[in-house]
Amino acid sequence: MQKESEKIGWLEGIIEAVHDGILVIDQDGIVQLINEEYTNITGVRKEQIIGKPLIDVRPGAVLPSVLKTGKVKEGVFRKEKEMEYVVDMAPIYENYDIIGAVSVCKSIPEVYELSMELRKSKQRVSQLEKAVGRIHQARYTFSDLIGNTPLFKKMIHQAKKIAASNLSILITGESGTGKELFAQAIHQESTRNDQPFIPVNCAAIPGSLLESELFGYEEGAFTSSKREGKIGLFELANNGTLFLDEIGDMTLELQAKLLRVLQEGTFRKIGGLKEKQIDVRIIAATNKDLQSMVQKERFREDLFYRINTVQLRLPSLRERRGDIPEIIAYFLRNQKFQIEEDVIDILMQYDWPGNIRELKNTIHYAINMTDNGTITLEHLPETIKNSFILHKTKFKTPQSLEEIIKETERNVIMETLKETGISVKGKKAAARKLGISLASLYNKMAKLHINK
Ligand SMILES: Nc1ncnc2c1ncn2[C@@H]1O[C@H](COP(=O)(O)OP(=O)(O)OP(=O)(O)O)[C@@H](O)[C@H]1O
Ligand SMILES: [Mg+2]
Repeated sequence: MQKESEKIGWLEGIIEAVHDGILVIDQDGIVQLINEEYTNITGVRKEQIIGKPLIDVRPGAVLPSVLKTGKVKEGVFRKEKEMEYVVDMAPIYENYDIIGAVSVCKSIPEVYELSMELRKSKQRVSQLEKAVGRIHQARYTFSDLIGNTPLFKKMIHQAKKIAASNLSILITGESGTGKELFAQAIHQESTRNDQPFIPVNCAAIPGSLLESELFGYEEGAFTSSKREGKIGLFELANNGTLFLDEIGDMTLELQAKLLRVLQEGTFRKIGGLKEKQIDVRIIAATNKDLQSMVQKERFREDLFYRINTVQLRLPSLRERRGDIPEIIAYFLRNQKFQIEEDVIDILMQYDWPGNIRELKNTIHYAINMTDNGTITLEHLPETIKNSFILHKTKFKTPQSLEEIIKETERNVIMETLKETGISVKGKKAAARKLGISLASLYNKMAKLHINK
């Protein structure tokens, strides 16, 4: 018995020490206990309330209803003369029977302090979000995209038109054709331009890691992961644009998860339970042939149709050679360098497998090679010089009459083929024009190393 009363003494001590106001009623609604803080908050003293039905002393009390429903109530606002406070209430169970109920009150100044702290944290989060948004702002706009050929202008026109919509876009094109630039310009032209533009390179990040980059994870989702969890790129891109670069390199498993997000408009963090709503515009890019990947079952057909609502196929540089001089001038702007007309001619004939990126690197290389401020043939990289010499031989001085004849023959045949085309029909026409047989045209082409 001694022990029991000791225990009760302990409990009373604890209840007094708690910083919140506490009131306990038994199953009949009779007040059994209050602590000092309860008196401080409500102004009700022990002798006024202990042993009495709560409802008699405090007519508006909600706690008796908790006895009936057995349900917890949180954050109930109360006002007592000058005092404002917030109450949490819960039933007390013993062997599945409700034997009473407890209410815990916090005075408003304390709640206010806590809410101020919360507000400060929220402000900080929103500042950080804005900072992240700024870091991820797209830099390029359509005015940075150089080119005036009809083909390129058509491309810009088409891209501007779809920028205004919310449709997913698939940008295709060879390496270095400007896919990322177009993605940025589209974002900048859209209504989302004050929101983040988040690029993700699906080829650069291994599959499992890419999943956690995209979706993030909850605290303790993996044993090895950061304790505090991680925010995913989808969430960072919320209200903005997510640029999925090299989407052809995404694993089939992740493709399925991506499709789900795009269809539902919600996602779940790894290890998380709650679905979160998001509003993200997808721009995907690839230099692979997704259609043939679909046929080989290396890309999901349903995802392909989902992201391929609009396709923007960027032309290679050799399909718009007319833009080369302007692009060169653009890369030479703010520089005190000249470029010889002949060199521009050569650069217009080169095939540019690496497209604009290769042209940009070439110009920067040449700038570094010159010492008198004028770019000439000798300042071009070996690969371009070689390809030119191999194909045109214009800059090679012939050594003998035989060589001059060969050169001339080669040039004439090449020019004629350029006019007639290189199909069998074209070759027949060329042979006719040149007054030779088709067989001898083939012979000469082989001897003079004319390809195709
Ligand atoms: N129309 C353009 N005008 C000026 N510069 C351009 C244009 N298009 C691309 N560039 C430049 O070419 C380079 C390559 O562009 P970008 O990275 O957008 O190509 P990409 O298609 O994404 O290439 P990859 O497939 O290799 O990733 C960049 O340095 C960019 O500044
Ligand atoms: Mg790219």
